[in-house]
Amino acid sequence: MITTFQLANMIFTGADSLIKVPESIKAQGLKKPLIVTDKGVVKVGLLKKVTDVLESEGIPYAVYDETVPNPNEKNAEDSFNLYKKEDCDCLIGLGGGSPMDTAKACGILATSGGTIDYYRGMGLLKAPLPFYIAIPTTAGTGSESTCAAIITNTKDDHHWKMVILDGRLLPDVAVIDPVLMLGLPPAITASTGMDAMTHAIEAYLSVGSMEYSNALALGAIELVFKYLGRAVGNGNDLEAREKMAYAQTMAGMAFSNAGLGLVHSMAHPLSAFYHIAHGFANAVCLPTVLDYNKSVCPEKMAKIAQLGGITDLGNYPEDAGVEVIQRLNDAVGIPRTITEVGAMINVVIDPKDIESMSKDALNEVSTITTPKVPNLNDVVELYTKIW
Ligand SMILES: NC(=O)c1ccc[n+]([C@@H]2O[C@H](COP(=O)([O-])OP(=O)(O)OC[C@H]3O[C@@H](n4cnc5c(N)ncnc54)[C@H](O)[C@@H]3O)[C@@H](O)[C@H]2O)c1
Ligand SMILES: [Fe+2]
Repeated sequence: MITTFQLANMIFTGADSLIKVPESIKAQGLKKPLIVTDKGVVKVGLLKKVTDVLESEGIPYAVYDETVPNPNEKNAEDSFNLYKKEDCDCLIGLGGGSPMDTAKACGILATSGGTIDYYRGMGLLKAPLPFYIAIPTTAGTGSESTCAAIITNTKDDHHWKMVILDGRLLPDVAVIDPVLMLGLPPAITASTGMDAMTHAIEAYLSVGSMEYSNALALGAIELVFKYLGRAVGNGNDLEAREKMAYAQTMAGMAFSNAGLGLVHSMAHPLSAFYHIAHGFANAVCLPTVLDYNKSVCPEKMAKIAQLGGITDLGNYPEDAGVEVIQRLNDAVGIPRTITEVGAMINVVIDPKDIESMSKDALNEVSTITTPKVPNLNDVVELYTKIW
């Protein structure tokens, strides 16, 4: 069978790799990037780090900093309007997945035109993006190494996440500088880190998994088990930040090629309905969905358990795989129920939404590659278990 495996064109990685940004722009003969970011990233001084390196090389820039978590079509349109108004010719996505995906969406509008909802699905772009540099400041989404952009459709009352998949969404350059992640607060470190873990596990269990993606997924799983607790416990632990940065990029490479699964399908409606952060939405669903999947992939579940440090797998090694993930969730402070996650952000979670969210989850593209095919009742039951 012929399969494709695509990666970002160039990755600069390691402490202070940010200095590679100006030469990447100049090497292309480009003049003015639009930096797409958000207010939180600006507040902690990360935008200034980027503008300082650009200014040191005399490169002008414009800034869009209105991206919201779980960005929407307005972020895509507004950033694109600024891109045009400021006469920019390339893009920098600076932040977590939200600004990096907004930069991708801005790029889609710049070269493919129309409105962003048209591109939901696979391979619908009409042209490559403008030259795009992704600079992650969280260690979770891996958007710097994926062919995906996730934009929430908020046009009517029923909000849902549009998944846009296209090889042309892979960045031209990814700059993975762990120094930018040192100030990430513990809760965001934990939830984004569990997003990376979810990417790696879902890629590994996916029906689209293959040797290349498995190697990257397993490597990422091992790194998250080893370093996430350290990064949550001490944000200034540069080694832990660096290893988590590798983990997110490797997990992104894996799932970008192998696909995801039901955890992401169930997490997206949680974010669309209740604005729950993507990492928390995944993390709270992960153990329960693994428990549902385990019967069809017992060997892979046992391998996950081993990577998590369980040496005695007992008579039910697949259960050990679920257990080890629940332990990690508990250790880094992820709540066990959706209601508790909602309480953290003062959102009331309403069980009457379960049916509607379950239908959305079944329609998600990630459900195509999940290892055990679910029906509507299964998804309703899974949400109910963790409600
Ligand atoms: N494109 C993909 O492949 C892909 C994959 C997974 C998730 N996603 C999407 O990514 C989005 C989630 O991204 P995320 O989890 O990275 O969160 P995010 O980008 O929404 O950021 C969360 C918060 O962290 C703050 N922040 C970011 N970096 C910081 C730093 N270094 N120090 C202090 N604060 C910092 C931000 O200001 C923001 O308030 C969702 O929309 C999700 O659907 C995309
Ligand atoms: Fe994710």
